[in-house]
Amino acid sequence: MPKKLLATLLACAIAVALHAQQPKDAKMDVFITQLMKKMTIDEKIGQLNLQTEGDIVTGSGGNSLSTERIKKGLVGGMFNIKGAAKIRAIQKIAVEQSRLKIPVLFGMDVIHGYETVFPIPLGLACTWDMPAIEQSARIAAIEASADGICWTFSPMVDITRDPRWGRVAEAGGEDPYLGGQIAKAMVTGYQGRDNFSSNTDIMSCVKHFALYGAVEAGRDYNPADMSTFRMFNDYLYPYQAAIDAGAGSVMASFNSVNGTPAHANRWLLTDVLRKQWDFKGFTVADYDGVGELVSHGMGNIQQVSARALKAGLDVDMVSEGYLSTLKKSYQEGKVTLAEIDAACRRMLEAKYKLGLFANPYKYCHESRASKSVYTPEHLAIARKTAAESFVLLKNAQNLLPLKPGKTIAVIGPLANTRSNMVGTWSVAADLTKPATVVEGLQAAAGPDTKIIYAKGSNLFADSTLEANGTMFGRKLNRDNRSDANLRAEAIQAADKADVIVAVMGEASEMSGESSSRTDISIPDVQEDLLKELVKTGKPVVLVLFTGRPLTLVWEDKNVPAILNVWFGGSEAANAIGDVVYGKVSPSGKLVSTFPRSVGQIPLYYNNFSTGRPASDHGFEKFRSNYMDEKNAPLYPFGYGLSYTHFAYGDVKLSASEFSAKSNVTAAIEVKNDGEDDGDEIVQLYIHQRVGSAVRPVKELKGFQRIHLKAGEVKTVRFTIDNDMLKYYNAELAYKAEPGDFDIMIGTNSRDVKSAKLTLK
Ligand code: BGC
Repeated sequence: MPKKLLATLLACAIAVALHAQQPKDAKMDVFITQLMKKMTIDEKIGQLNLQTEGDIVTGSGGNSLSTERIKKGLVGGMFNIKGAAKIRAIQKIAVEQSRLKIPVLFGMDVIHGYETVFPIPLGLACTWDMPAIEQSARIAAIEASADGICWTFSPMVDITRDPRWGRVAEAGGEDPYLGGQIAKAMVTGYQGRDNFSSNTDIMSCVKHFALYGAVEAGRDYNPADMSTFRMFNDYLYPYQAAIDAGAGSVMASFNSVNGTPAHANRWLLTDVLRKQWDFKGFTVADYDGVGELVSHGMGNIQQVSARALKAGLDVDMVSEGYLSTLKKSYQEGKVTLAEIDAACRRMLEAKYKLGLFANPYKYCHESRASKSVYTPEHLAIARKTAAESFVLLKNAQNLLPLKPGKTIAVIGPLANTRSNMVGTWSVAADLTKPATVVEGLQAAAGPDTKIIYAKGSNLFADSTLEANGTMFGRKLNRDNRSDANLRAEAIQAADKADVIVAVMGEASEMSGESSSRTDISIPDVQEDLLKELVKTGKPVVLVLFTGRPLTLVWEDKNVPAILNVWFGGSEAANAIGDVVYGKVSPSGKLVSTFPRSVGQIPLYYNNFSTGRPASDHGFEKFRSNYMDEKNAPLYPFGYGLSYTHFAYGDVKLSASEFSAKSNVTAAIEVKNDGEDDGDEIVQLYIHQRVGSAVRPVKELKGFQRIHLKAGEVKTVRFTIDNDMLKYYNAELAYKAEPGDFDIMIGTNSRDVKSAKLTLK
């Protein structure tokens, strides 16, 4: 080979090797820099415009507004459009008819599953099963990605401590540590572990940043006002965990935070998110969140749009404030080109990372969609996960599980509905597909079991309340007979049965966005019905649907068995059959405290110590207690029964002292001393006895889900190290403080065994 050719080949080989070694980001930077050089300011602002028009492309190509805008490069993303073919048609306009052929990003609220729906996030969290939670997100990603979706507005990781707020249904409960674990599992499930290398990996959007779960009075969209001490120790942790897990985008929250709406909050969106946490993805408004800054009193649409961009909000959802005013603001010197460029670059980076520049149709798979959406395999996993999410709140005299063969009266307004099984925020679901509870129970009990169904009551006595709680195709076919007539029919059914299964509680749309309640009990006519059913003297099992903790003091006292099933998703009814008839033993544990009354709210297990703690002997003057109610909840965080029983030994520490560089093992024996196999969620809590700042009475620091056969014993071990004891002190320095700690392990946050450990 001639020397010159050899040298050229060598040089090429080195160049190829160097190119391959080049970090992916550098290639992306070059690509995007080149692209942005070609973009006009209008096209750059167009990338910041996220719009929804529902099913905009029908047949010939779509709504003229979107089509024209897409051709002009004025649409960066679209959301909540269902179907690969429709999305392909829109993408085709973008990449064939727009000047720079930049693909559109397609998002959707894939919150707890796509067509195969998993339990609502609150229920999913009650599994404490991180592999199952990750798998639910993976399946959601597999299904949504086949249908053209590459971006989901999930997970919602807002810490929630006020069950009046309807959106508690969409989040993982009150605890930061558990919330952080769930955030990681969900982000990994959606995004995969390999930089979106697969066409089933979709980008997650962590929401709602920040503190949306702390809206005052539990009323949606209200302000949140909180010390930074609490923020950093509790509320911000799950968002940060999601970002550490690589979440590609973050959605701002509707609420104001300490006086500044999140959408215009530079401290949150830039100082905390980007500077402290090193977030590299893009931020997006919530629905019309930029426009709503006007109502927040932040100025007119031009002023608020400039303010949001300057705060660090990259993409405007729906309001079109960016589209209509940012160029003018630039010309008037109110925003800089650098600010527009930075936002535009992040949006383009998201598309690049997802691989949309390489293949704009990467996520449009009409043929895959027909094979991998709502499959029997996915449904089987959804069924198992739903059963794990149910929480057995009470089971007197082991009434559950029921034995097949007995006649059961299945009574209640939620016993015979399909549309209410999946729960709130399931936009891609086919509401006609889920089985009803009556069907699920019949299938589980078999043909020898006679089921008599009666509705027994409407959802509410008041038809307006019922309409508000059954929106979006979730109607319950309101019965026009009188409440008394409906009840009489139910009592007749009950008279003919051995056992009553009362299926009641909240309808699907009584929780979720804009579904705040001041009274969180079982609605009026249902409660009356339940009382009548109990009066019959027949054993009553309450199968309770709810999207939030409810006040259940009467039920706890009077109903022998209560199985809380949340909204279990596509397979809710079959999973209910599995648990009620004992194929699966319940194992879910509460992630939100159930208060005794609304007056106790906010009530959560990890509250700060006070100077005048309540005594154990009822009300005492000059103590932190109520004259008319206990401090204790009805059901504490971490609580949930099983068909079997687990006995705990004592906490054994490998050492009673340790230093910052070492660690200690806390071990406990757990025995299944009942007669059935079952899963138990063993929980580790820690309390710092003396701190430089006030410390919570206990904090969850670890948990393990274990399976024990009847009679089996396992030793469960937790490693305790210095990191686990760190917190943000009054100066917001994150460190552990030497001293004594109570190491508590148990079956819930109330019933724990304890040992003392000293950090030297
Ligand atoms: C909700 C978000 C959701 C968005 C887009 C808003 O109303 O607050 O959680 O992702 O709409 O549908």
